[in-house]
Amino acid sequence: MTIGIDKIGFATSQYVLPMTDLAQARNQDPEKFSQGLMLDALSITPVTDDIITLAASAAQSILDDEDRQTIDMVILATESSIDQSKAGSVYVHQLLGIQPFARSIEMKEACYSATAGLDYAKLHIEKYPQSRVLVIASDIAKYGIDSSGESTQGSGAIAMLVSSNPRILSFNDDNVAQTRDIMDFWRPNYSSTPFVDGMYSTKQYLDCLKTTWAEYQRREETDLSDFAAFCFHLPFPKLALKGLNKIMDKSLDDSVKTRLKDNFDQSITYSRQVGNIYTGSLYLGLLSLLENSQTLKAGDKIGLFSYGSGAVCEIFSVNLVKGFEKMLRNDRKKDLENRQVISVDQYEQLFYEEAHLDQDGNATFADYKTGAFYLEAIQGHKRLYKGKD
Ligand code: HMG
Repeated sequence: MTIGIDKIGFATSQYVLPMTDLAQARNQDPEKFSQGLMLDALSITPVTDDIITLAASAAQSILDDEDRQTIDMVILATESSIDQSKAGSVYVHQLLGIQPFARSIEMKEACYSATAGLDYAKLHIEKYPQSRVLVIASDIAKYGIDSSGESTQGSGAIAMLVSSNPRILSFNDDNVAQTRDIMDFWRPNYSSTPFVDGMYSTKQYLDCLKTTWAEYQRREETDLSDFAAFCFHLPFPKLALKGLNKIMDKSLDDSVKTRLKDNFDQSITYSRQVGNIYTGSLYLGLLSLLENSQTLKAGDKIGLFSYGSGAVCEIFSVNLVKGFEKMLRNDRKKDLENRQVISVDQYEQLFYEEAHLDQDGNATFADYKTGAFYLEAIQGHKRLYKGKD
């Protein structure tokens, strides 16, 4: 039995901030962002979008009625949760109309937890082969106006339906994880934005990659020539490019290097336009690769490097299955082009608007553009979501 991703969907916010405008407003050379970080635009959410609306919108785009009747677990991976107690997946389960006899949980370890979600889904399906597990990675990356991380913000969700006999890709049993207790990026409960030691975090990312890849190679007796492509966690694409160069052995054949580099360029296409979406960012890279590469074929092996600050990382591989291209879209760039372009002033208002609760815990909101779901109001401290008809 093979287990893997049967369907994959994506949602992001409907507003976009061009990096050239941000560069001008912050007195930076635009090439610092376009070449130094390899970012062209950031997705900006209004107050009526959050991890629930993004997650439900991403999942809605792939689910049919049969899925709603057969999914028996919903895992929401996030580090920008809306509640310290109730799992966001409970809201998502209800909004999507999934049958009641399902387990719904939320997972956290910075940008890594979606990978843990996939690992758990795989174990569950190994025991119950008829099960279908919905794993969603949903986050809003918000560092603050004029902060050092401002240029690496973003928002979005990736929804993955995991099943036996998947139609996109199958998981291999080769996961190697690493944990190291470091303070490169963290967000205490009392802070709405993270504390980050930016340069240190990039060094840790690269060192976790190098050491985990060495262990993976030792255990699997493999090298990069076995891979058609390698996807990386994408806090910003330039760091992932440094990662690829770090593990690319000089002795590799030029054709292998060219293949990996070409497919790397396809894997960062969407992230360049969206920014960091934390837990979903590795999988946005995977989606971008699958939907834009012209060379991938059934049977190809793809490596994945998942990294969550704090830190936990994991390297594992997947294989494309026959007919995978039929399960993907080829017009997603249009969705990204159709987002509403906003100025820096509008971004500062939109992204940092807070719900103003009255003394009874009620708030209403102005009408903003969102995907298939939106936050309608807060009543008595309860968040009320609605789907668009
Ligand atoms: P910065 O101040 O933008 O960076 O901070 P910089 O001065 O290092 O410049 C960035 C690059 O632009 C450099 O390239 C410059 O040379 C280049 P490099 O030397 O590194 O190759 N540059 C130019 N290029 C062309 N033309 C120019 C020009 N000027 C400069 N004129 C930093 C960068 C990453 C520190 C900041 O954006 C930040 O703090 N970001 C947030 C933290 C982050 O993303 N860390 C990544 C690793 S940790 C991680 O991935 C986990 C995370 O996703 C969270 C989680 O797990 O939950 C963040």
